[in-house]
Amino acid sequence: MTQREKWGTKLGIIMAVAGSAVGLGNFLRFPVQAAQNGGGAFMIPYFISFLLLGIPLMWIEWAIGRHGGLFGHGSAPFIFTRLSKNRLMKYLGVIGIFGPLVIFVYYTYIESWLLGYAFFALTGKLLSLTTAESMKGFLSAYQGLAPQSNVWTAYVFFLITFAINFLVIFKGIKGGIEKLCNIAMPLLFAFAVIIAIRVLTLGPSILDGLGFLWNPNFAVLADAKVWMAAAGQIFFTLSVGIGAILTYASYLSHGDDIVLSGATAASTNEFAEVILGGSIVIPAAFAFLGVAGAQAAAASGSFNLGFVTMPFIFGQIPFGQIFSFLWFSLLFLAGITSSVSLMEPAVAFVRDEFNLDRKTAVKRLLVITFILCQFPIFFLGQGVVDELDFWGGTFCLVLFATIEVVLFVWVFGMDRAWEEMHRGAELNIPRFYKFIMKYVTPLFLFFILGFWFIQQAWPTILMKGVSDAGKPYVIATRIGLVLLFLGIAYFVRKAWYYKKSLGEVE
Ligand code: ALA
Repeated sequence: MTQREKWGTKLGIIMAVAGSAVGLGNFLRFPVQAAQNGGGAFMIPYFISFLLLGIPLMWIEWAIGRHGGLFGHGSAPFIFTRLSKNRLMKYLGVIGIFGPLVIFVYYTYIESWLLGYAFFALTGKLLSLTTAESMKGFLSAYQGLAPQSNVWTAYVFFLITFAINFLVIFKGIKGGIEKLCNIAMPLLFAFAVIIAIRVLTLGPSILDGLGFLWNPNFAVLADAKVWMAAAGQIFFTLSVGIGAILTYASYLSHGDDIVLSGATAASTNEFAEVILGGSIVIPAAFAFLGVAGAQAAAASGSFNLGFVTMPFIFGQIPFGQIFSFLWFSLLFLAGITSSVSLMEPAVAFVRDEFNLDRKTAVKRLLVITFILCQFPIFFLGQGVVDELDFWGGTFCLVLFATIEVVLFVWVFGMDRAWEEMHRGAELNIPRFYKFIMKYVTPLFLFFILGFWFIQQAWPTILMKGVSDAGKPYVIATRIGLVLLFLGIAYFVRKAWYYKKSLGEVE
């Protein structure tokens, strides 16, 4: 067993977990979800999901990870087997490496657009595009989707972004990830506060904009889809069910607090999401584009809001160039503190289970990941990103969270789990959470999975809504995903026999 890395400070791990959580989801995905799902009324299922799914899963993931780290394991396969004493469980743990890797592959590419856009904001290029149409045209040319355009400018920014990510990962937990988050998190909060204040002082119409986002439409609460959207947002935004937090927690010492730290990281994320994320894009769109414009912008999705509507709005106010630059820099920082966490489960797996040093493990993964990243870049227009986002960024999260909670609370045992969570705790979890974790959280998760199977499994599998031209690409992506999953499972098996030969597993 190699010596495992450790976080430098308590604040460092909180910043890193908050960094993993605060991402594009907070500033782009959340306001769109809220606007499309009942505005203020969306906050009811959202907060219920936060209390019944988000917070318990946060504590569970921290506890599972810290427990695994004690035995030299930082990724789900070997930890699941240890928790359950069942050797087959390691294959369910494959999801905890596969999911984050799939997200990393497309997330890093989108993150690189933000770096590109921050650059074009600084050079004044974005400011020279004075209509929403020209801004839209610029985006599709940048993505290589417009006629006569190519992807090479985006590719250069991708290479830079990929290199920065791997440099940070290469430098390790304390010297890379912790350092990055300690600098990037305060900076991104400062940028977000500046932008939120600027938006909130745009004029009297901003109040109507806030009203548009927050006025509750309680009728939507009868719609199960709204509840699913709220639960999905909680998973994505808190980064729970991904596997990343589990790995981060494996670098804790056994007596380190997780209850207060987990709650602090989750609350930091909620502040960034509800207070800051909720005060920027939708109110700004409303102030400049009116009700119909804001509605159209919310319906056109997160990318359009972030890359078209926002720079267009900034182009119309004094010092717009600076605000535009701050906006894209904020999103880039939010993105990179999340993407480095998505790579860590794979790094921890290769390192821990093949007894390699970090640098060798990272170099091997760099090659594989670089190859995988080419697909979303060159097949963006064929729907590859949507497909990766659905399986890696939505489906796997719920599935993995369900497995985690069942294994920890039911198989490992609620009493042991409770004790494990409270080791070194600086705060006691309210006792009623014992009931919530044991019954409510798993039932809620089974309900979500069941609802998905009944309502959406067949249409998704049969590719309803995908154009005939897009179907071959969707099928190819799915085949690729299955092969990737099997490839990881193969290495998990190989690692198992390797560890067995060393007498490190029974
Ligand atoms: N939690 C990250 C986000 O919100 C993935 O973007």
